[in-house]
Amino acid sequence: MHTRGAALRKFVAPEIMFGDGALHLAGQYGRNLGGNKALIVSDPGVLAAGWVQQVLASVGGAGLESTLFTRVTPNPRIEEVAAGAVVYAEQGCDIIVAVGGGSVIDCAKGIGLLAANQGGIRDLVGVDNVGAPMPPTICIPTTAGTSADVSQFAVITDREINRKLLIISKAVVPDISLIDPTTLTTMDAPLTACTGMDALVHAVEAYVSLGHSPLTDMHALQAVRLISSNLQKSITEPNNLEYRNNMMLASLEAGLAFSNASLGAVHAMAHSLGGLLDLPHGQCNAMLLDAVVDFNYGQVEQRYRDIATAMGIEIDGLPSGEIRKRLVAEIRRLRETAGLRDTLSRCGVHRTDVHELAETALNDPCVVTNPRRPCQRDIEVIYEESL
Ligand SMILES: [Fe+2]
Repeated sequence: MHTRGAALRKFVAPEIMFGDGALHLAGQYGRNLGGNKALIVSDPGVLAAGWVQQVLASVGGAGLESTLFTRVTPNPRIEEVAAGAVVYAEQGCDIIVAVGGGSVIDCAKGIGLLAANQGGIRDLVGVDNVGAPMPPTICIPTTAGTSADVSQFAVITDREINRKLLIISKAVVPDISLIDPTTLTTMDAPLTACTGMDALVHAVEAYVSLGHSPLTDMHALQAVRLISSNLQKSITEPNNLEYRNNMMLASLEAGLAFSNASLGAVHAMAHSLGGLLDLPHGQCNAMLLDAVVDFNYGQVEQRYRDIATAMGIEIDGLPSGEIRKRLVAEIRRLRETAGLRDTLSRCGVHRTDVHELAETALNDPCVVTNPRRPCQRDIEVIYEESL
């Protein structure tokens, strides 16, 4: 008799330094990677918060030259990536240091790809479609959510077609991630809420993904536990480093999980929304998670029971339908107490947009690992329920 063995799964992660003061290691690691001149990629908000200056001091203190590039907007665009690549080449840079949230890090990844490959970003879109890896890249995340600093994903917006382009490849995993929870203290409440909900969606989607494995499962569930018990507190007490530390750890663990297990329908639908309307990524996810959990629940019930338990919901002795209801309600409660009360229609989505949004979502690579295969109409219904 044959028993089923373990499915083949790989697990990719950068070298990670986690803890207070990690960002001050940028110079030392830049030198270890053989760099002479760093392109420091950031954005105006992170610059104003003061973190970039600290990284510049670290890099300069290690004897490296640097050039600063901060022309990055939320949902970074192809043109911003191209402009950064021009600066990288003209200034003779040989390493990249990204200091910021997901937009900054994704833009930095795009710049690195253009520095190493012929053609443009559009030529690299898809799964494992990148020829040469990025130059040595150090990431210093300043939000607890996207985890672009550890992931195999880079998301760049193409404004010509109003779509988000996904590049999924080991080639976009940074070399080093310097994760310093103190950087979270300058996030305001809405950014904390949006990025924290993004991390929750990473954890939930990775745990129920068709690509999950024991290695991703443990990180995903731990992230759910940490976010459930720390997101709200990190919003009400923004300077409490214990809560910020827990959220940063949650984001990291959710990132390790989703980078390797991939995602699901929430991200497919959020990418479509963000491409059309330029809304914050975490907010898009937050508005869709409950409806997608409700849609998927019956397909992988035991997995959602584990998530419910990790969220602190008492499920013993409850019938299946009741657990489903309580889980969906708890996700809504978490989102609303974090201050995210908008619906899709309040964000400018109209019923007439739904068909096109669903079409784009159905072609997103993330939908492939959703535990229940949706059809066009299924996706439309989920959007309509979230209007
Ligand atoms: Fe995300």
